[in-house]
Amino acid sequence: MNAMTPHWVSIGKLADIPRQGARCVKNGAMTIAIFRTFDDRVFALEDKCPHRNGPLSQGIVHDGCVTCPLHNWVISLETGKAQGADEGETRRFPVRLDGDKIMLGLGP
Ligand code: FES
Repeated sequence: MNAMTPHWVSIGKLADIPRQGARCVKNGAMTIAIFRTFDDRVFALEDKCPHRNGPLSQGIVHDGCVTCPLHNWVISLETGKAQGADEGETRRFPVRLDGDKIMLGLGP
């Protein structure tokens, strides 16, 4: 394991998150939103919109993006970047499925 390898943590099962929904996990003071798409892909972003820190976990998941509930910015789940004319980026975390378990990559 090299210094860049994330530390993988089991954070629950895929079925714990509704399709096109999200669930939050805490990492110290930070809240990380885990999103599940319609086709069962998972993504992890800090639960903080790059516009004014809106809770992305309460947004609408669609087309590989989440629409922020506060002012409707659209954030890519894959890159964390604001789409269209808006500019900004939310921190991303590696996440993968191990069978039906969701593994979140933290650190290094
Ligand atoms: S806080 Fe997300 S769009 Fe304004």
